[in-house]
Amino acid sequence: MASYTKSSTRAEFNMLRTIALLLLGASFAYSQTCPVEYSSEGRPLLFGGVSSRCVSGCQSRAAVKPNDWGNVCSFDPEKNVWGICTEQQAKNSFELAKKLGGGSILQLSPCDLVPFLRGRTLWLLGDSHTKTLYRALQCFLFDFWNQKECKISTDPQDVADIAKQPAQEGVSNCFHLTGAGGGRICIISVALTSSLVNNTAVAGGGILPLLRQRLAKPEDIFYINTGTWHRKTPQWASEYKPDLEALGKYYQETRNEWPHMLFRETPAVHPADTARNVCLPLDGYNYDPSSGMLSLASTVNTSDTIGMWANSYGLNKVVRETLPQFGLYTVPAYNMTPPLVDNHVAMRNSVALDCLHYCQPGMPEAWVWYLYNAMRESRAGIRPLPLTISESSLAAAVPKSSSSSASIKGRDSSALRTAAPASQTKKSLLQQQQALGQGQYACTPSTIRL
Ligand SMILES: *[C@@H]1O[C@H](CO)[C@@H](O)[C@H](O)[C@H]1NC(C)=O
Ligand SMILES: *[C@@H]1O[C@H](CO)[C@@H](O)[C@H](O)[C@H]1NC(C)=O
Repeated sequence: MASYTKSSTRAEFNMLRTIALLLLGASFAYSQTCPVEYSSEGRPLLFGGVSSRCVSGCQSRAAVKPNDWGNVCSFDPEKNVWGICTEQQAKNSFELAKKLGGGSILQLSPCDLVPFLRGRTLWLLGDSHTKTLYRALQCFLFDFWNQKECKISTDPQDVADIAKQPAQEGVSNCFHLTGAGGGRICIISVALTSSLVNNTAVAGGGILPLLRQRLAKPEDIFYINTGTWHRKTPQWASEYKPDLEALGKYYQETRNEWPHMLFRETPAVHPADTARNVCLPLDGYNYDPSSGMLSLASTVNTSDTIGMWANSYGLNKVVRETLPQFGLYTVPAYNMTPPLVDNHVAMRNSVALDCLHYCQPGMPEAWVWYLYNAMRESRAGIRPLPLTISESSLAAAVPKSSSSSASIKGRDSSALRTAAPASQTKKSLLQQQQALGQGQYACTPSTIRL
C-alpha cells in the first residue's frame, strides 16, 4: 500500500484515521474463535454435515424465498433439487474424495476457510463449473451469510457492463459474509478467456481491468477458470493458448500490486453414449488420490489430439504448460475427475445425462478443499487479512479532489468498493465509508438463481 498513500501527507492520513475510528466506533480486531460452532459427530461438514451439525451461531435452516438454500444445501436426494447426487453417486464421490490429502478433507470446517475471506472479495470468474463451486461455497458457508444474495454493485451500470461479454452474458451475483470483518464471495460468468484482458469488446478492456478500475481492491482474491467453452469451436480452441498467455502476461505485469490471482483447471468431460443415455469411462486414466497424480496407460492414444482435447486433458495440458511461465498458480481440478464417470447430473428439466457437469456433494466440494489448500499454502501471497482499519480503506475515503487524486488516477484501481457516476462519487463514497466497515459492502438485493 506504500505507493498508494505516498502522496497523501501523514497528517492528512492521521486525521482521517481518527475520523474513521470515531465514525466506525468498532473494533475489527480478528477474533480467533469462530462465531459458529459445529458438533464433532456426523457427516463431514464439507459433504453435507453443515446442514445438521450446527450447534450455536447458526443461521436458520427454514426456507427463505426464493432459493431456499436450507433445503438445497441439505444435499438430500429425496428433495428433488437439481444437481444433487443420488445416494449412490454421493457414496462414490465421497469414497474418492475422502482419500485426498490423507483424509484431511474430512476435517475441513467453514471456520478454517472464513479467515481467508474476511475483509475482502473473493471473485469467482468462469463458466458453469464456477457456478457449481459458488454453490458449494454457499452451502459450506451457510452459517456465515443470511440466504440473501446481492448484486455485484449498487450501480446498475456496473452490472450491465460486466454482463456485456462476447459468447455469453456475464451473469453475476454475490453473497456477503455476516459477522466481524465481513467479506463477500462474488461470481461473474466468463465463458472465454479472451474476455478477461485485452479485449476492446468488453468495457474497460476486459473483465479484470474493469473490476480493478471500479469494484475490486488489491487485497481481493481473483479465482479464475476458463476452458470448457474453448472446446466449442476450432477458433476458440486455437485461441486458448494465446489467450492464457495474455492473461499470464497481465498478471505478471501487475502482480506487485494485484498479487492474489489463482487459476483452476477444468474437470474431465466424459464421452457420451446418447443412445443409451450414459457417460462412458475414460479407460486407462489412472488416478492415485494419495499423491494426486494421474497416469495414462499405454493404451491411451495420446496422438488423438481431438479426443484428448474433448475430454479436457488437452486443455489442462495447455494450462499447465503456459501459466507457470508467468508465475500464475494453477489449482488442481482435473486429475480426480476422470474416475468420476458416474457423478454426472441430468440436464436441467430433462432426464438426458450431461457428461460435463458434476453433482453435489462430490467434486464441487473437493474444489472448496483445493481452494482452501491453496490459500493455506499462501499461494499467490494469500493470507488472512489483519482486520484493523487498513491504510487502503482510509485512502479510499480521501475525496477525489484532495491532493491524493493524482495517485488514485495513476493507479489501475480507484479502490472504490462500489462504483458510482463520477459526479456522485464523493458524496456516496463518504456515506458508504461511514456506514460500512472493512469488508462490508452495500447490498442491492438480487434474486437471480444461477
Ligand atoms: C492484445 O490484442 C491484440 C489484438 O487482438 C494483440 O495484437 C496483442 O498482442 C494483444 N496483447 C497482449 C498483451 O496479449
Ligand atoms: C491414434 O490417433 C491418431 C489420430 O487420431 C490416429 O491416426 C491413430 O490411428 C490412432 N491410433 C490408434 C492405435 O488408434
